[in-house]
Amino acid sequence: MKNIRPLGIALFALAVGCGRPPARVAVQTPPPPEEEPAPTVIVLPGTNNNPTPPAVKPKPVVKGVATLEDTNTDPHIVEVSLTAQVKYVTFPGKGTAQMYTYNGQFPGPLLEAHQGDRVIVHFTNELPEPTTIHWHGLRISDQMDGSPRIQSPVPFGGTFTYDFVVPDAGSFWYHPHVRANEQIEKGLYGPIVIRGDDDPEYDVERYILLDDILLDGGTFYPFMEGHMEGMHGRMGNMLLTNGLPSGSVATEQVTAGHVERWRLLNTSNARTMELTMYGPSVRIIATDGGLLKEPYTLNNSRRLILPVGQRYDLEVTYRDAGASAQLQSWVLMQGSSGGAYEGAINVFNVQQSSDAVEPRTIAWPAIQTPSRAADESVTLQFDAMEDTDGMLMWMINDQPHGMDPLFTFAKGRTVKMQLDNLTGMEHPFHLHGQFFEVLDNGSGARLPGLRDTVLVGGGETIEILAYMDNPGRWMAHCHILEHAALGMMAEIVVAQ
Ligand code: C2O
Ligand code: CU
Repeated sequence: MKNIRPLGIALFALAVGCGRPPARVAVQTPPPPEEEPAPTVIVLPGTNNNPTPPAVKPKPVVKGVATLEDTNTDPHIVEVSLTAQVKYVTFPGKGTAQMYTYNGQFPGPLLEAHQGDRVIVHFTNELPEPTTIHWHGLRISDQMDGSPRIQSPVPFGGTFTYDFVVPDAGSFWYHPHVRANEQIEKGLYGPIVIRGDDDPEYDVERYILLDDILLDGGTFYPFMEGHMEGMHGRMGNMLLTNGLPSGSVATEQVTAGHVERWRLLNTSNARTMELTMYGPSVRIIATDGGLLKEPYTLNNSRRLILPVGQRYDLEVTYRDAGASAQLQSWVLMQGSSGGAYEGAINVFNVQQSSDAVEPRTIAWPAIQTPSRAADESVTLQFDAMEDTDGMLMWMINDQPHGMDPLFTFAKGRTVKMQLDNLTGMEHPFHLHGQFFEVLDNGSGARLPGLRDTVLVGGGETIEILAYMDNPGRWMAHCHILEHAALGMMAEIVVAQ
């Protein structure tokens, strides 16, 4: 590397100077809706109308996404086929684009299994370029993780069989790990639901995948052109809910008295979303690593910040017939498209019903969470630099595209990691293969739940406690895909 100069301070100044608010601090407050709905209620009232569960649990249907067909008759093996292929996708009112899809579907179909199941995926690549599949959040073998450092990418016409055991229940997703900033933007991603024995039963389940893509009519704007995309990440001009542009998601009838589980995921390349729900009562019941020990309600601002890669599960209770439920998004970042979105991204109308049904109380299972003290502490510094050609590179601990292990930990170690963001851009940090807790979110608060992704805001320092329980060579990177492509990628080894 020749004549490099640190850019952290410069980027910070630029971020502030160009009016882009540092994450989570100077957020522009959107105007309140005409009628301010009642704030979210904490406790779900009502009697338990459904005390005896049926002997055989029917598998809940997950609405909003297509499902992969399990071709294996063994109840503990899920065997499916995925083919990556080029396909034209039509966005109602917005045109048709040539996309990359799994099985011709956008988003990719739902992979569903039970905790402890063996999952076999017969993968075929029909794309005009190599690819892999990464199973984001699943603590599986590193050989099956889709890392191009371990698995040679599957060429055009090639096949690969992914074969792994899924250890944890929760909401996860899959996507490629080769030229991910282009391949994911073009449509390669799909949801994963791993069920656990303790899962509470809900009347309806939905997986809601939120995306933000940059299209010029039916054509993707060129990738990585210009400084802005490399710096902020690729900001889109079309917000998608399960592949449909906002406004074109059909209004759905739901039933008063029903309690639903919504699994939310942000699959954007770069755009952090800030979500609010109007209408029904909402509890946060799960994070990346599965069900929370204690569900909680959103605070007064009723905002949920969803950085790319991260998941939150919501428990949504419809109380009043005739009311509507609106999931709204305000978007923090001004991007290369110059636009920020605002408004409803999904609307559900609660059906009128003559007899008022009291929502039942969801009995909460006893959730085991690890409680371990840190064995050691390390620091990861996020920074940027520019070479003499003006090429922007993103770094972790001064290394762009760190190829040597940044750290090696013995299996079972509990590691406090200080994530130190020297830049003004935000970085959703993702660690493969392990879960962690957020000890300090930058304002001194400990966040509930296990995660594999956490947002580190501009100039922030946060602290996580990582449970290094899954041996292997693991990628650790920023999930702003352009930052990762420009070097914000490291390797962490957990020795057997
Ligand atoms: Cu969601 Cu390394 O990825
Ligand atoms: Cu980043």
